[in-house]
Amino acid sequence: MSSADSGGRAADIELSEVTVRYGTSKAPVTAVADVSLTVEPGEFAVLVGPSGCGKTTLLRLVAGFERPADGTVAVGRKVGVVFQQPRLFPWRTVGGNLAFALSRHGVARSGRGARIEELLALVGLSGMAGRRTWELSGGQRQRVAIARALAAEPQILLMDEPFAALDALTRERLQEEVRALASTGGTTVLFVTHSAEEAVVLGSRVLVMAADPGRLVADIAVPLPREPDTDVAALRGTPAFAALRAELASAARSPVAP
Ligand SMILES: Nc1ncnc2c1ncn2[C@@H]1O[C@H](COP(=O)(O)OP(=O)(O)OP(=O)(O)O)[C@@H](O)[C@H]1O
Ligand SMILES: [Mg+2]
Repeated sequence: MSSADSGGRAADIELSEVTVRYGTSKAPVTAVADVSLTVEPGEFAVLVGPSGCGKTTLLRLVAGFERPADGTVAVGRKVGVVFQQPRLFPWRTVGGNLAFALSRHGVARSGRGARIEELLALVGLSGMAGRRTWELSGGQRQRVAIARALAAEPQILLMDEPFAALDALTRERLQEEVRALASTGGTTVLFVTHSAEEAVVLGSRVLVMAADPGRLVADIAVPLPREPDTDVAALRGTPAFAALRAELASAARSPVAP
């Protein structure tokens, strides 16, 4: 991955004609082929597409966990990652998990306690620092994982189906929290989901992928209000919301030929 300085960069994420292959050179699997994508600072870009089309691969590429066989990847600023399953340290408390992230981020021990409380308040878990992670519900664990990603003050947040394992109500609540958090902080987000509803709720832009080979087939702007105090529950019931969902479904059904 090419590194880039943060000063004066236009884009936060810039993939240029990227191809990723897995497997051996004798039996390669092309996970994504010739993907070009630019994400500007403050954009909330959502990736949707069928299983196996390369969504996780693109996220891992941006995170620097994967290298392209072809093309270039430039990622401008500090990156935080949230996976589908929160990978917390089970032997540490909630606060201990966050303290570890803060120490890795270079926050001095004396400053960690206050910052932990701030982070927990952000994700609606005030006062839970002393709890064991196995005492938490799935939604609470995922909130800790989000708080942990925020501990490093990332300017780019990568989220791979972070709410897929949650019940519908918790999922809706966390969608609204993440949407507001991102717009308040001006965070750039690249978010993977299988849900068209979730894509339209969250994204300022939805990127539709198709499989075999994994590629981008549509780029749909979502012109819904993004102020942190937007009534998202009301937004879900508007005709504009329904129209965007329909547009997305139709783009996903009729991918252009490779
Ligand atoms: N480590 C790996 N080794 C070999 N092939 C892999 C590896 N990881 C992914 N693949 C293949 O690359 C392709 C893209 O996988 P990827 O995980 O990016 O898809 P995805 O869109 O995230 O799917 P899902 O929606 O099921 O999570 C698939 O064909 C998959 O089998
Ligand atoms: Mg995946």
